[in-house]
Amino acid sequence: MTETQLEALLYENRHFTPAEEFSSQANVQSSDIYTEASDDRLGFWAKQSERLTWFKPWTQVLDWKPPFAQWFVDGKLNAAYNCVDRHLNSWRRNKAAIIFEGEGGDSRVLTYQDLYREVSKFANVLKSLGIKKGDRVTIYLPMIPEAAIAMLACARLGAPHSVIFGGFSAESLKDRILDAQAKVLITADGSFRKGNIVPLKANADNALQGVDCIEHVVVVNRTGHKVTMLEGRDVWYHDAMQKAAMACPVETMDAEDILFILYTSGTTGKPKGVVHTTGGYMVGVTTTHDWVFDLKEDDVYWCTADVGWITGHSYIVYGPLANGATILMYEGTPDYPAKDRYWEIIEKYSVTILYTAPTAIRTFMKWGTSYPEGRNISSLRLLGTVGEPINPEAWMWYHKHIGGERCPIVDTWWQTETGMIMMTPLPGVTKTKPGSCTIPFPGINVEVVDQSGNSVPKGSGGFLVIREPWPAMLRTVYNDPDRYIKTYWNNFEENYFTGDGAKWDDDGYFWLLGRVDDVINVSGHRIGTAEVESALVDYPLVAEAACIGKDHAVKGQAVVCFVTVKEGIEVIDGFVDELKGHVSSKIGSIARPDDIYLTAELPKTRSGKIMRRLLRDIAEGRALGDVSTLADAAVLDFLKRKYGDES
Ligand code: WT7
Repeated sequence: MTETQLEALLYENRHFTPAEEFSSQANVQSSDIYTEASDDRLGFWAKQSERLTWFKPWTQVLDWKPPFAQWFVDGKLNAAYNCVDRHLNSWRRNKAAIIFEGEGGDSRVLTYQDLYREVSKFANVLKSLGIKKGDRVTIYLPMIPEAAIAMLACARLGAPHSVIFGGFSAESLKDRILDAQAKVLITADGSFRKGNIVPLKANADNALQGVDCIEHVVVVNRTGHKVTMLEGRDVWYHDAMQKAAMACPVETMDAEDILFILYTSGTTGKPKGVVHTTGGYMVGVTTTHDWVFDLKEDDVYWCTADVGWITGHSYIVYGPLANGATILMYEGTPDYPAKDRYWEIIEKYSVTILYTAPTAIRTFMKWGTSYPEGRNISSLRLLGTVGEPINPEAWMWYHKHIGGERCPIVDTWWQTETGMIMMTPLPGVTKTKPGSCTIPFPGINVEVVDQSGNSVPKGSGGFLVIREPWPAMLRTVYNDPDRYIKTYWNNFEENYFTGDGAKWDDDGYFWLLGRVDDVINVSGHRIGTAEVESALVDYPLVAEAACIGKDHAVKGQAVVCFVTVKEGIEVIDGFVDELKGHVSSKIGSIARPDDIYLTAELPKTRSGKIMRRLLRDIAEGRALGDVSTLADAAVLDFLKRKYGDES
């Protein structure tokens, strides 16, 4: 984000006060909740914990030995029980839990009773494959109900799951399986994508070469295309389910037992296994899901994220199901078979709440209003966004063309690490400003600080930190507590460092400015520059690589790389495409660079650090910032002449 864009943002003075019609029916109607929660933060969270069913009550809200937190100490519960079983002793057992819409228009509805049966049976399948409390299970599935079923079956047994987004490559899958030392992998023969089949099982087979920890692979038959099954290791989901018994006792879990591990990108090449535990996480996601989305019993709630990301974990599976919501799950993309697919689905199921990402909204803007106008989307009553800053124009478009100027918009700021929404409006209470995620959720303490950790005055910018522990916070990095400390707690002592830059305005509203670390946000997905760089230098002809995020009108940021080749190598036509393909196959197509610039040298400091800031200036066609620490200025002249004017 440039200074001018920033100034424009801060002068953004449109604002929207919640409509009386909405407020008067909202789950939260008074702003007193903010002061109540800040006056007695722990009391507030203690009260929220009553939303869950505990097998044994907790004895202490928080045990904080910085930076290690334990919430709801000694409490016992089970996440799957809270999401499924407890809804069975009321009329809710016949309520739709999951409405599934396949890419090709096939659909399925699972009531809570159906979900209970499927989860229990699948938990028995996992048990028969040797899974017991504490064992890790990797899930590599498309957006089909079996993904939620598999997660909940793991939770039922107390086996931490690690869900890997289906768009990740075999190699990324392998790294994550090894890091978690998973015993079972759950995948599908393939997944549908724009009419083609993504060969998930074949990727899994590649990933498992040389991997000893995986004992069994469960394969869901989704596409029906032919796959190889390894005798003794691989089992079909439907075969195993047929034989499975329905009764499966729920494991009693400690509030601090691991619920799941979710890998995310950081500043080094190795993804971090973010660890979330059971009690605090469930309290955090259940409370926020209820209040932020103003959930009502008859809502049809649609979060368009993939279950492979934290948004899917917290706001497709755990939060909504614990609240007994009806969730819609869609397998495909917004433009297949046509560009009105989302609006068609909203019309088909009378969706009332839509939670999506700014990149999707900008794409819809580009396509034009005729697509939403061609469908009846008047059932919508609340809209949400997540993943990256939303530019005010996209916010206004969403408000007008999707929300019919009547739906409140909740711009929710949070992270894989926070587990739950941290900053957001409460739709019946908080005034909104297009482009701002407004203010922290009750019971959350967020601030903007300078380099030394002192709060900056209103109207200024700095680093975004979280001052106090919160229930759904990550507990550690899997098997790497040092990395947990170094990444999040070394910069500002007992404050959690988010990696984001932000400003707060005179009203105390927060305006997010993007990452200040070496993380790129492409369409709301985090990609570490170091991951892309190591994929590039892994290519035999490449000597050095530097990767940056370049502003992009639809994706937010695009991956752009600068590459030097080894001495004496003649570059031939097609080399750049070959390199792009190499990155896709190493990491996954989300990391595929938009551009790769070949250069003889990279700009470095005298101590040999690559100056990515200057590369960004070049790629974005800006005047170069401070070059005083640069070792060799000639490099820059070359790069500017060759690439600088292109953008
Ligand atoms: C990063 C976290 C949380 C689910 C999706 C991404 C950016 C997220 C917003 C927002 C501005 C946002 C931040 C954050 N981000 N939501 N509403 N406004 N920026 O989870 O992959 O862990 O990425 O996404 O930069 O640090 P994630």
